[in-house]
Amino acid sequence: MKVINARLRGRTGLFTIECVQGKFSAISLQEGLIHTVDNEQIIDAKQSLLMAPFVEPHIHLDYVLTAGEPEWNMTGTLFEGIERWGQRKAWVQKSQTDQIQDTKRRAREAVQMLASHGIQYVRTHADTTDPNMIGMQALLEIKDEVKDLMDIQIVAFPQEGIESFANGRALLERAVQMGADVVGGIPHFEYTRDKGVESVKYLVTLAEKYDKLIDVHCDETDDPNSRFLEVLADEVLQRGMGERTTASHTTAMGSYDNAYCFKLFRLLKESKINFISCPTESIHLQGRYDTYPKRRGLTRVPEIDAAGMNICFAQDSIRDPWYPMGNGNIMRILDAGLHICHMLGYQDLSRCLDFISINGAKTLNVLDQYGVEIDKPANFIILDAKNDYEALANQSKALLSVRHGKIIMERTPETACVLSE
Ligand code: FE2
Repeated sequence: MKVINARLRGRTGLFTIECVQGKFSAISLQEGLIHTVDNEQIIDAKQSLLMAPFVEPHIHLDYVLTAGEPEWNMTGTLFEGIERWGQRKAWVQKSQTDQIQDTKRRAREAVQMLASHGIQYVRTHADTTDPNMIGMQALLEIKDEVKDLMDIQIVAFPQEGIESFANGRALLERAVQMGADVVGGIPHFEYTRDKGVESVKYLVTLAEKYDKLIDVHCDETDDPNSRFLEVLADEVLQRGMGERTTASHTTAMGSYDNAYCFKLFRLLKESKINFISCPTESIHLQGRYDTYPKRRGLTRVPEIDAAGMNICFAQDSIRDPWYPMGNGNIMRILDAGLHICHMLGYQDLSRCLDFISINGAKTLNVLDQYGVEIDKPANFIILDAKNDYEALANQSKALLSVRHGKIIMERTPETACVLSE
């Protein structure tokens, strides 16, 4: 495969990219525009941006596409979401086989949505507070089924707690033994502060025992006293596991006072942990107990980024009981995130795609195989834009997605003809 007339991020000029046996074999600067040759083997990027695929680092594929079944979340709150999810579990199916089929059908549909938007790396959570492990079983099968479209990491995620749910520890370990790639947790949801701390220590120990990555739903609340992030960061720092660890959400950081946060940042930087913010989900679910002014309910994205730590954006949900919107398009999340976080200065706009590409890849610990570089897997997308700013401003879509040198998605550019009298 050969692509001509491509722009690359951070470089000037037009490039020819060649792929052999599923890997990038040559990346060369052109002397100028190459006029299209009539050769089906050559793809003309038409001066658009060619880049590594988008990354979706935090989604719940076991929950997707369930909004309104059987009833809609009318208040939009997290707690009504939990109630509606319980309703659906009772409503949907009887047998375990039916439940697995139902989960696979919805996950498969969501995978198509993600793939159609140029995403090739996904980290999904699977609820382990289910003795039948429906989500785990279904997503393990989906992971294998769609491996030609994307790499999926599965997080063993104890939605209802580790210490506060019957057999929570054993269920989490079972999920890891079944094949989870990442160990999760939800310390702020545990019944007491002590149980939250214990849950963090347990999940880090489990990850160390089985040599797994870590991704914790951490401090997803507006409560300024929810301080499990410091526990997680300290624990992984002591064990040298920081770069393999992610703190998702950390929305309480948006409510911490500056004096505490200043002290906390020293630990966070030293620990080298990664951060994920889910801006659309958080602004929807947080700030619910405020009158006015209402907090935005997001973590300190620009401050974490400016401090040199790694942070990326994620979707979290696609039309589930907690969040009724979403279509797999992570560009929409980037747009919302940058608005909410006061990050529309040109210095951020000009590199904004980092937050849905390389920063996500770093979080997933896949940098060894990620990027448009010789000898790396020929995984890339061509965006309908010339650079980051244009991509964001136009909400540009991926026109082409290539994986291991093979086209897996093609889109016809949208055109509109405005008529004037
Ligand atoms: Fe989540």
